[in-house]
Amino acid sequence: MLKLGLIGHPVGHSMSPWIHGKLLDQQNLQGSYELFDLEPEEFDQQIQSPEIKKLDGFNVTVPFKEKIIPHLAELDESAKEMGAVNTVKNTSEGWIGYNTDGIGFADSLTNDYPTSLKSSTRILLLGSGGACRGIYYALTKKEVAAIDIANRTTQRAMDIIQDGSQKINSTVLTLEEASEHLANYDVVIQTTTVGMSPNDDQLIIPVDHMTKDTIVSDIVYRPMETRFLQEAKKRGARLHFGHQMLLQQAVYAFKIWTETDPDASKLLEEFEKKLKGV
Ligand code: ATR
Repeated sequence: MLKLGLIGHPVGHSMSPWIHGKLLDQQNLQGSYELFDLEPEEFDQQIQSPEIKKLDGFNVTVPFKEKIIPHLAELDESAKEMGAVNTVKNTSEGWIGYNTDGIGFADSLTNDYPTSLKSSTRILLLGSGGACRGIYYALTKKEVAAIDIANRTTQRAMDIIQDGSQKINSTVLTLEEASEHLANYDVVIQTTTVGMSPNDDQLIIPVDHMTKDTIVSDIVYRPMETRFLQEAKKRGARLHFGHQMLLQQAVYAFKIWTETDPDASKLLEEFEKKLKGV
C-alpha cells in the first residue's frame, strides 16, 4: 500500500488527490494520497511528524518549496538548480528532493506543439515567482534562440537570469515593454497568479501587439481559459493551458515515486471535464 501526499498551506483546493488517485488506478496500484496543511510558523517541527515520515513520497507546494530543502538528504540536479522542490521521495538514505514543474511545463508544451521549441524560437516569460524560475531553467535546457523575462519587479527577473548557469540569450523587460514588443516572440508564457479565479477579469498585459500564430500559455488553470488566453485567441494565437502542465508535473512525480510509466494523455479529457465541473 503506497502512501503519498501533499504538503502546503493552503491545500484544500488541490487537484493532486484526484490526479494521483487516477494514476494509482491506471497502474493497478493500491495507495492513498492525503493532504497535509502545515502551519508556516511550525513547519520545521510539523514536517518531522510521524504521519509525514510514513509517506513513501509527497509533493510540496507553496509556501514550502524552498523551506523543505534543509530537511532533505539529497537534491537531484533539477531541484538544486532551481533552488526549489515540488516532489520528495522517501528512500533508505532519507528524503530526496526533485522538481518536476519545469519539465512538466516543457513537455506539456511540446506534446501540444511538437515544433514549438527550436533553435529559432524566441520565448517571453511573464512573471518572476517560483513557477517562472522552474520553467525558465527547464527551457534553458532546450536549444532556443532567446528566453526573455518581463516582471512588475524587474530585479526579480534579473535574479533568475543571473542565477542560471546556462549561457542563454536572456533580456529583462518591464511589463510595458513586454506588451509593446509582443510581436517579437514565438512563445509567450504567463506564469503569475494574475487572472486566477476569483480575479478572472485581471489581465497581466494588453495583447494588442500580439501576432497571429504566437503560442500563448497561461499556467493559471482556474479558470481553464483565462482572460489572457481569451484575448490572445482573439488575435489568432494558438493556446496552451495551465491544467496540461499541472497534469504533466504530477505524472513526473508519480513516475519518481513508483517507477511506473503512466500515460498523461489518457487522463487529459477526464481531467478537463472534472475542472469544468461536467
Ligand atoms: P510563486 O512563487 O507562487 O510563483 P510569487 O513569488 O508570489 O509566487 O510570484 C508571483 C508573481 O506574480 C510575481 O512575478 C509577481 O510580480 P512581482 O515580482 O512584481 O511581485 C506577479 N504578480 C502578482 N500580482 C501581480 C499583479 N497584480 N501585476 C503584475 N504582476 C503580479
